[in-house]
Amino acid sequence: TVLIIDFGSQVTQLIGRRVREAGVYCEIVPFQSAEEAFNRLRPKAIIFSGGPASVLDQGSPRAPQAVFDSGLPILAICYGQQTMATQLGGKVEGGHAREFGRADVEILKPSPLFEGFWDVGKKYPVWMSHGDRVTVAPEGFEVIGTSENAPFAIAVNESRRYYTTMFHPEVVHTPDGAKLLSNFVHKIAGIQSDWSMSAYRARAVDAIRQQVGDKRVICALSGGVDSSVAALLIHEAVGDQLTCILVDHGLMRKNEAADVVAMFQQHYNLHLIHVDAVDRFVGELEGVSDPETKRKIIGRLFIEVFEEEAKKLGGAEFLAQGTLYPDVIESVSFTGGPSVTIKSHHNVGGLPERMNMQLVEPLRELFKDEVRVLGKELGLPDSFIGRHPFPGPGLAIRCPGGITREKLDILRDADAVYLDEIRKAGLYDKIWQAFAVLLPVQTVGVMGDGRTYEFVCALRAVTSVDGMTADFYHYDMNFLGRAATRIINEVRGINRVVYDVTSKPPGTIEWE
Ligand code: XMP
Repeated sequence: TVLIIDFGSQVTQLIGRRVREAGVYCEIVPFQSAEEAFNRLRPKAIIFSGGPASVLDQGSPRAPQAVFDSGLPILAICYGQQTMATQLGGKVEGGHAREFGRADVEILKPSPLFEGFWDVGKKYPVWMSHGDRVTVAPEGFEVIGTSENAPFAIAVNESRRYYTTMFHPEVVHTPDGAKLLSNFVHKIAGIQSDWSMSAYRARAVDAIRQQVGDKRVICALSGGVDSSVAALLIHEAVGDQLTCILVDHGLMRKNEAADVVAMFQQHYNLHLIHVDAVDRFVGELEGVSDPETKRKIIGRLFIEVFEEEAKKLGGAEFLAQGTLYPDVIESVSFTGGPSVTIKSHHNVGGLPERMNMQLVEPLRELFKDEVRVLGKELGLPDSFIGRHPFPGPGLAIRCPGGITREKLDILRDADAVYLDEIRKAGLYDKIWQAFAVLLPVQTVGVMGDGRTYEFVCALRAVTSVDGMTADFYHYDMNFLGRAATRIINEVRGINRVVYDVTSKPPGTIEWE
């Protein structure tokens, strides 16, 4: 195990991903609980992340003394370098030009840290982001790489196996950074690769059997990748002790519920209950136009329906959830202030307490891309694993204004035509998420010899890494023209199509 101590950098999670990609298990913990985690995990190497604070500030974060006393190798990045320097008797000063973005590091001496890809006397691109800098290195350290604005770009104490960089090796803008992190865990810390998805699968199956015993598990299956992979893993572990419940709220994409049922029931022979709750959901949503009210209604009904079905089954001791590692990592907070709710996200939250169930969360240690690999391992087809994300409240939040059955049907058809065109053009995998939105606006058009007065459909497509920020997708206009023509010709009720060119921020990906 590698212990990553988080000092609050925006990119700490990427350190974790790079270490995992190198085939080594790691955990990320906030600096406040680093000592406890260090004692619990007994890591073989430690990494200090960057962070937004200044070591010169009173009360700024520090690493626990225990990690220095342990004799373990440490890689300290950016703020991590500064706190290490401070804690070991070096000096850090502020007031320098802040350096953000690309810099070139010149290598002065060889080191196992970059053995095999960086040569002495040459320069390599790296990504810097910091204000303060080390001005006096602690005793025993030497500078083996410099850049114009960062004299201590790489400072190391080879005999203690302390490696510090002022740049961020974890980001893709440091092209050789992944190799550097791999060298740290393999060559310097001597950790063997033991983290593979097939090994994980076997361990997870064991752990689920241990936890669940001969008790029953229920799982809300939405057809999303996370809940699907969690369900398959649990099914592999305990077979028919697992029952999945698919709540069909009538807000899914075209044919989606049927496809999910076919795959899990027929292909995997999984015990699946398909609840047709369309009338109940659409009935309560009819005429509702406020986005948060829609979300609340859907969340509440979902819990009600799920609870009823679970009762019919005679209850269950365990509830399965596809919680991922990024949801689990405690965030480092300096301000402690409340954050603003932009949208109240829909998930199964609240159920375990209400129903007095324990959680089974077999994906808690995984990043999203690892879940996809595991899904593949479990035999899920690529077409399923690569599907665009779909929000819990479904089409309801893509139908601004009052919801009606008719509008949902129009939207479902338009969305299906749009996605079909995207697939035909070979663009599906280049786009993070694409969907149609039905606007509550009617406009005048002319079709044949007649006047039309129908709805406007907006098309949305974005690229993103994690959904937190996004850029609108830059289509070729011919593609948009083709998609618009088909939608207007094939979907009754739409006579005009527009394209959304808003990025996030300031927009959000969904319209509500
Ligand atoms: P926004 O619209 O906030 O969406 O930019 C970011 C990502 O989250 C998805 N999304 C949801 N997913 N329940 C979900 O499971 C929700 O209530 C929900 N709302 C938005 C959205 O589709 C995008 O991928």
